[in-house]
Amino acid sequence: MRVNPHYRELAESYLFSTISRKVKEYQDAHPDAAVIRLGIGDVTRPLAPAVVEAMERAAAEQGEAATFRGYGPEQGYPFLREAVAAYYAGFGVELSPEEVFISDGAKSDLGNILDLFAADNTVLIPDPVYPVYVDTNRMAGRPILFADATWENGFLPAPDPAVKADIIYICSPNNPTGAVYTREGLQAWVDYALAQDAVILFDAAYACFIQDPALPRSIYEIPGARDCAIEFGSFSKMAGFTGTRCGFTIVPQGLTREGMSLAGMWLRRQTTKFNGVPYIVQRGAEAVFTPHGLTQIQENLDYYRENARVIMAGLTQAGIAFTGGEHSPYLWLRCPGGLDSWSYFDRLLQEAQVVGTPGAGFGRNGEGYFRLTAFGDQDATRQAMARLAALRF
Ligand code: MLT
Repeated sequence: MRVNPHYRELAESYLFSTISRKVKEYQDAHPDAAVIRLGIGDVTRPLAPAVVEAMERAAAEQGEAATFRGYGPEQGYPFLREAVAAYYAGFGVELSPEEVFISDGAKSDLGNILDLFAADNTVLIPDPVYPVYVDTNRMAGRPILFADATWENGFLPAPDPAVKADIIYICSPNNPTGAVYTREGLQAWVDYALAQDAVILFDAAYACFIQDPALPRSIYEIPGARDCAIEFGSFSKMAGFTGTRCGFTIVPQGLTREGMSLAGMWLRRQTTKFNGVPYIVQRGAEAVFTPHGLTQIQENLDYYRENARVIMAGLTQAGIAFTGGEHSPYLWLRCPGGLDSWSYFDRLLQEAQVVGTPGAGFGRNGEGYFRLTAFGDQDATRQAMARLAALRF
């Protein structure tokens, strides 16, 4: 018997697990310290009342013989697939509900989708980026190339026609840098993918933070994308579902490679390995798209936007260079005093009791940078910025 040897190539633990461990060690040693967590991008606002009411109704249905439901369709109930398609139609993207696959979140699907691709495909991943893309491909032993995202290119790398790739990851608005591709920027990637016969895996988990209608919220706003892109969406950041779990993956019907329909393959994969998202959760997710639901989630998103504004103002006042925050819940800053990411993490934790995420955890180009999230409590965020600004390097 042999274990998967590629697990030896992974860092010892997942980035956010390492941070949790370090914070716990600090808290155990300093039980009275009032630690403020702006590290992992986890939401703090409660679910919208429209969502809770829908889930209560659905729970009651599950308690009656006449309305009880057992296994649901693995790819999601039609009511939610239709609601997602209607939401996309609201900003001009036409999808058929059959192209929308409901899941327990974008993170799971971003990993699971790799079942569709051969292990010797070359993967192109921006650096820095959400660590799940790299780790899931390392686990499968795929060759990985990196596209450098730097301060100089606004953390928005453009494709290099000399580089050959089969699977391309794009996250816009970006985690961790907050950078957002313009239509032209995304068009360059779609053209590149089509020329290479590659597939783009487009992570749109933060699309709800885009405030400028000129910026694309979906890759399907870009001509040609239906022939080369799979998109991942999430209710986590949009509607506070990080603990409730629901997301969706869009696989266009006409997207084929080597004569195989990727939507057909994904359906085959999901029906084999997945039993669907609970009915109660899907009813809650459906309620996000009702008029009340949409108004209520906007109130929460505005709350986080205000946090982002507070962090941006604090960083500006402290003379710390940063990107993000405008169309994103993430602020990406240059560590002051020339510190490396983990040293800044330690200083902030020990001297200000503020937790952020070291940029180095997102890739080589993240060294010397640091991420703060706008998902915290508003008073705590203000206090964190006051503490951060008071530190001298
Ligand atoms: C993050 O902090 O980057 C996010 O929480 C990651 C995620 O959504 O899984």
